[in-house]
Amino acid sequence: MADQAQKPWSGVFDQQTDPRVERFTESISFDHRLYRQDIHGSIAHARMLHETGMLTAQERDEIVATLEAIGEEIAAGQFQFRLELEDVHMNIERALVERIGDVGRKLHTGRSRNDQVSTDFRLWVREAIDRTDRLLADLQRAFVDRCDRDHGVILPGYTHLQRAQPVLANHYWLAYCEKFQRDRSRLCDCRRRVNQLPLGAAALAGTSIPINRRHVAQQLGFEGLLANSLDSSSDRDFAIEFVFALAMVAEHLSTWAEEWILWSTVEFRFLRLPHAYCTGSSIMPQKINPDVLELIRGKTARVVGNLQALLVLVKGLPLAYNRDLQEDKPRVFDSADTVEACLELAAAVVAGAELNRPAIHEKLERGYLDATTLMEHLVKQGVPQRSAHEIIGKLVATAMKRDVPLAKLELAEFTAAHEALDESVFDVLGVEQAVMAFTSEGSTSPAEVAKQTALWKQRLKDHDRGCGS
Ligand code: ARG
Repeated sequence: MADQAQKPWSGVFDQQTDPRVERFTESISFDHRLYRQDIHGSIAHARMLHETGMLTAQERDEIVATLEAIGEEIAAGQFQFRLELEDVHMNIERALVERIGDVGRKLHTGRSRNDQVSTDFRLWVREAIDRTDRLLADLQRAFVDRCDRDHGVILPGYTHLQRAQPVLANHYWLAYCEKFQRDRSRLCDCRRRVNQLPLGAAALAGTSIPINRRHVAQQLGFEGLLANSLDSSSDRDFAIEFVFALAMVAEHLSTWAEEWILWSTVEFRFLRLPHAYCTGSSIMPQKINPDVLELIRGKTARVVGNLQALLVLVKGLPLAYNRDLQEDKPRVFDSADTVEACLELAAAVVAGAELNRPAIHEKLERGYLDATTLMEHLVKQGVPQRSAHEIIGKLVATAMKRDVPLAKLELAEFTAAHEALDESVFDVLGVEQAVMAFTSEGSTSPAEVAKQTALWKQRLKDHDRGCGS
């Protein structure tokens, strides 16, 4: 059993801690990941304590140098974390005290683990936001880089997974860029709320020790100070918001993964996935399975589950700090790790996949992708939309019965359906002409898509250094 006197809070206790309680309450097995942030936070705190007269310059320097040395040892894997010291904060502080004695015991002046853990965690989430943002930009770049390669390729667009209207491949790629851009802007927005300093709240009410929170905020790059100590020591909304933003990224990734899984099937044959990102079957020699895409889709479940767990975790918690909050970290770490891994692989798959142009082309005239364009052609000649819909619907039914595309119907059949349907119909029929017919802003018209592609290239090149810089 561990020596009770080792525990920083042992003064009032008359019993040793049950070892099962030590195992039950520890967080060092996962919060060791906060060691860098904990050391930065403590260094900033020590510097501030010197500014306010609570540490001499010599004490400050000794603390800072020792904390730096501890940080290097941890980074090098040479530091022994101890379970009986509960968490990363007490492990590091204990090491400091063991090395420099009473000076080390002064570090925790005017501070509590409650504001310390919130500070560390905010610093960690801030870094994770910046990493995710960079990975999202890489993925967007992978999509935009496809645009030259896939220039001019037309794909069927679907609604209800039924063929609907023709769409440029590049319109698809940029659709995903837009989604991931909103994810980035959500992360960026969340970052502003993450980047507020809780340190100084102490346990829950603040402290009577002279501290200077602005000094700490400045050193750690926080944009501002959280205004209320009860609030800041009790809340994890900043982390939950981050996990929501990640869940949305995972949702977007899962839509894309699902689409490309379908497109890579023999039934579709639109896409050849890079073999480095597929795996085989142990029994069926011909199989090339899209496991990476399936797992990107599948891992969405845990990211969404983590969000749910966090929301339930904080529900009904009274102010201020409660130990329940320690359960936040595994969920946040898992969401960040999962989404980062998915994004990294997604960019590689996007870059490595090849569109199967002949296979796409071969079946493109199936499914009456040009029917809506023909209807709009009629509408432009003054026929009410509802009537034009009916007229073209009947023509489609005729073509369907014969199993031919609309362009294969006789001119007489068109004119019989409506007098305005003269030879001009052959100028709009067929997927290529149908794509050319689009004009609206944001549409799949080649001119619009070219404009958007140029914008995206510019955006990702120039001012894309994320919101963290
Ligand atoms: N390991 C704890 C956590 O992650 C640190 C704060 C502990 N505070 C306390 N009063 N026991 O939340």
